[in-house]
Amino acid sequence: MNLLIERNAKDMSATAARLVARQVLTQPRSVLALPTGDTPRGMYDVLVGLEQGGLLDLSGVCAFNLDEYLGLPEDDPRSFRSYMLKHLWERLAAPPAHRYIPMSNPADEQAECTAYDEAMRRAGGVELMVLGIGPNGHIGFNEPGTPWALGTHFVALAEVTRRKEAARFGGLANVPRWGISMGIRTIMRSGQIVLLASGEGKAEVLARALLGPVTTEVPASVLQLHPRLTVVVDRPAAGALTTP
Ligand code: GLP
Repeated sequence: MNLLIERNAKDMSATAARLVARQVLTQPRSVLALPTGDTPRGMYDVLVGLEQGGLLDLSGVCAFNLDEYLGLPEDDPRSFRSYMLKHLWERLAAPPAHRYIPMSNPADEQAECTAYDEAMRRAGGVELMVLGIGPNGHIGFNEPGTPWALGTHFVALAEVTRRKEAARFGGLANVPRWGISMGIRTIMRSGQIVLLASGEGKAEVLARALLGPVTTEVPASVLQLHPRLTVVVDRPAAGALTTP
């Protein structure tokens, strides 16, 4: 595991963007997997800046999102589809021609999961995956207890995951109860993984994920077994990784 501890969230974002940019500059047709959430927003800002500066061309990339809420209209401003449009795709002069996000309202949920796995297989598999970490150690929407072997699947969101989003949805009762997510199997098969974490609130769960036992109870702990894992964090998030 490569651990990069940056001074602050801005530097974490710049480092993460550099890892993505390096991958795309070396292989313009890379297959990427991308997260949503507050943590990667700065990384997307830097990627947009690199494109605007003429340094980076993402148009040849094939991009898959990790997850989506189930049951929201696709154009709902809180859907991950809307997030990606707002924070990345609509800001690029030449966005990737091939972009995939699990459907939030599929007619047949199982068929959507199978189609998503098939699309990744046809693309040749994910070469670089960027991940955030949830308050309970989830990656994508793989909540504690998710078996390692699952591909794309639908998932009952954990209470803590829903509570974190309550303000955005105007109360816990309005937060979707279900999500659709790439599985741990897909995550572990990607060629390279970049795990991001920012802020003191992530310190304890990050330490459990990186230093604790590998267990389905802390889904991110499985990343300890990935041969090419780079963890990029700011100092507050690294707070529990070092001894005083
Ligand atoms: C959400 C997403 C994850 C994300 C995580 C952390 O639930 N499904 O993909 O990594 O929460 O989000 P944040 O970066 O806002 O802390």
